[in-house]
Amino acid sequence: MKGIILAGGKGSRLYPMTKAVSKPLIPIYDKPMVYYPLSVLLMAGIREVMLITAPADVEAYKRLLGDGSQFGIRVEYGVQYVARGIADAFLIAEDFIAGDRCCLVLGDNMFYGGKLEEHVKEAAQRTEGATVFGYPVKNPSVYGVVEFDKDHRVVSIEEKPKHPKSHYAVPGLYFYDEHAVEYAKTLTPSARGELEITSLNEEYLKRGKLTVQLFSRGLAWLDTGTPEGMLNAAQYVEAVQSRQGLYIACPEEIAWQQGFIDDEQLLKIGNELKMTEYGQYLTDLVNRK
Ligand code: G1P
Repeated sequence: MKGIILAGGKGSRLYPMTKAVSKPLIPIYDKPMVYYPLSVLLMAGIREVMLITAPADVEAYKRLLGDGSQFGIRVEYGVQYVARGIADAFLIAEDFIAGDRCCLVLGDNMFYGGKLEEHVKEAAQRTEGATVFGYPVKNPSVYGVVEFDKDHRVVSIEEKPKHPKSHYAVPGLYFYDEHAVEYAKTLTPSARGELEITSLNEEYLKRGKLTVQLFSRGLAWLDTGTPEGMLNAAQYVEAVQSRQGLYIACPEEIAWQQGFIDDEQLLKIGNELKMTEYGQYLTDLVNRK
């Protein structure tokens, strides 16, 4: 299964920050924003990742993530020249996906805790159809909204409805079988001029192949694509990390837990960063084992 991080699009909602600095330099508390979605892909066991971003940000992302070998994965880069919508990712990544199944995560979505690892591993193992998630929010109108029956079968999925049919927003984390590119090619732009990810999900729904999985209550989904969202997420990360002494979304740690890198590789990275708390943390992981 392939992984795609779409790190373009929402930059404008962080304006004027995005005018001053390249998006990968915008942190959520103590880490670059992209570490959070990347961690979810690693947790799902995905080792081939394409990061898609605007032309101006490609070089900075390359400096940050390189070829992915420090995480024991392969990272490739795709460019989205015009913000044509989320489903455009499948057209850009067609060669990379190469007929495989894939998981798409939005570059500004953060997920943590609850049964996240079980949820994503289960979705990654499903060989047919699409899996999206449902998460209760106070303001569903700004998201994709899913309506389902008592057996958790999806009845409808709508993008930013004025009158939402449920309180369940669809987070920016989607798993698809090998038909995603084929269906994405049939989509036409919405009223706001974008190839909507919700339209792709509707394609799967029409075919009776859309599964919605409700995230467990203790799971945190935070949208960091607005100034308020960034602040909330930063405060959440700080509160949990300083209490537990465990990092949220440390890709080296997750890669090591998954067996993508071994003790020696983790110690090497820790040693290179030994002047930082981050480096010390990585070294301690091995020593505490
Ligand atoms: C996008 C999707 C929406 C989804 C949201 C999650 O919204 O279109 O369905 O619920 O991401 O963050 P947008 O980025 O267009 O606001």
